[in-house]
Amino acid sequence: MHVSSMGVSKLCFLFSLALCALLLLLIPALQPSQHQGDLPQPRAHTKPARAGTGASKIPQHPGGLVVPLQADVGKVTVGNYGIDGGSIGQAGVVVGAGGSRSRTPLELKDIFIAVKTTRKYHKSRLDLLFQTWVSKAKEQTFIFTDGEDQELRRRAGANVVNTNCSAAHTRQALCCKMSVEYDKFIESQRKWFCHMDDDNYVIVPSLLKLLSSFQHTQDVYLGRPSLDHPIEAAERVKSDGSVSVKFWFATGGAGFCISRGLALKMSPWASLGNFISTAEKIRLPDDCTIGYIIEALLEVTLTHTHLFHSHLENLQRLPTDTVLEQVTLSYGGFENRRNVVSIGGAFSLVEDPSRFKTVHCLLYPETDWCPSKAHH
Ligand SMILES: *[C@@H]1O[C@H](CO)[C@@H](O)[C@H](O)[C@H]1NC(C)=O
Repeated sequence: MHVSSMGVSKLCFLFSLALCALLLLLIPALQPSQHQGDLPQPRAHTKPARAGTGASKIPQHPGGLVVPLQADVGKVTVGNYGIDGGSIGQAGVVVGAGGSRSRTPLELKDIFIAVKTTRKYHKSRLDLLFQTWVSKAKEQTFIFTDGEDQELRRRAGANVVNTNCSAAHTRQALCCKMSVEYDKFIESQRKWFCHMDDDNYVIVPSLLKLLSSFQHTQDVYLGRPSLDHPIEAAERVKSDGSVSVKFWFATGGAGFCISRGLALKMSPWASLGNFISTAEKIRLPDDCTIGYIIEALLEVTLTHTHLFHSHLENLQRLPTDTVLEQVTLSYGGFENRRNVVSIGGAFSLVEDPSRFKTVHCLLYPETDWCPSKAHH
């Protein structure tokens, strides 16, 4: 009895020893190969550093931000963009219909909507937005402006960000605001970054539906190309400016969206003020610089969509029966106050020159100030 139980425990001991050895052997095989950023391996990141050049190289990261971000990114890039059924423009504005795949459905709270404005438009432009579409996405919408305004602060509280950027309509001031928008988005932990101007109407259900057909973990840059050909610029970030690069960019005036996966990869050229120095190097406006970082530096292509609209287009040409299926609308423009979408409803052109109230009442007829009920 005693002997045999000794034998059993010896066997057990040997067996567990063998099991341990096997596990030890398996550990390296179980680890994902080439996982760059998940341990503090000081040398792992130093890319084949091009020798010699000093301060004017790719912006360096002051904080410890890059490592955790890249660890996050490592899980991401696989596969293509998936557009469910490919019929975004026509499928109406029903939310949640695209959730047939086994993903968690995208919710409004997953989106960070940045609205860029300036002090002098707080009354004339923002009031209209708060009255209309912003009321449907209050928690999601952040106003980026350049001057304190107690009334705006009372209305939107912590969702107003005073960028402290100059109120001038210069490249530097606009890039300064974009840079703050980017940093706030990264901080927010949300899945999608959408930039809008203060003359955009966002059809919130359409936006949610469009973004639902993509994955925020993939590299997605969505917007309206502002030209019918790519822009060409001297490459001054990766080289000395003697070669040029061609790239598409989404026009900022129509709004554009970037997935979190892609936004994190932009960090070396976009975060903590690096956006401003990137824009200064290539001497292009804010929306071009976004396109430059994404298409030229990260080699991710812009997904062209014509559901976004800016005041630079002829908005009257948009077919009336498709207006409510768009993602963004706009109005006016420098020389043409009558450049608006052609849509009829409860308000005349005098009562509603931008057509935003009309659009809003067609989308949300139950809104208390919409006269639609009285007309039925
Ligand atoms: C702008 O300046 C105010 C006052 O100095 C500061 O509290 C705020 O954080 C600054 N905003 C940004 C985005 O840096």
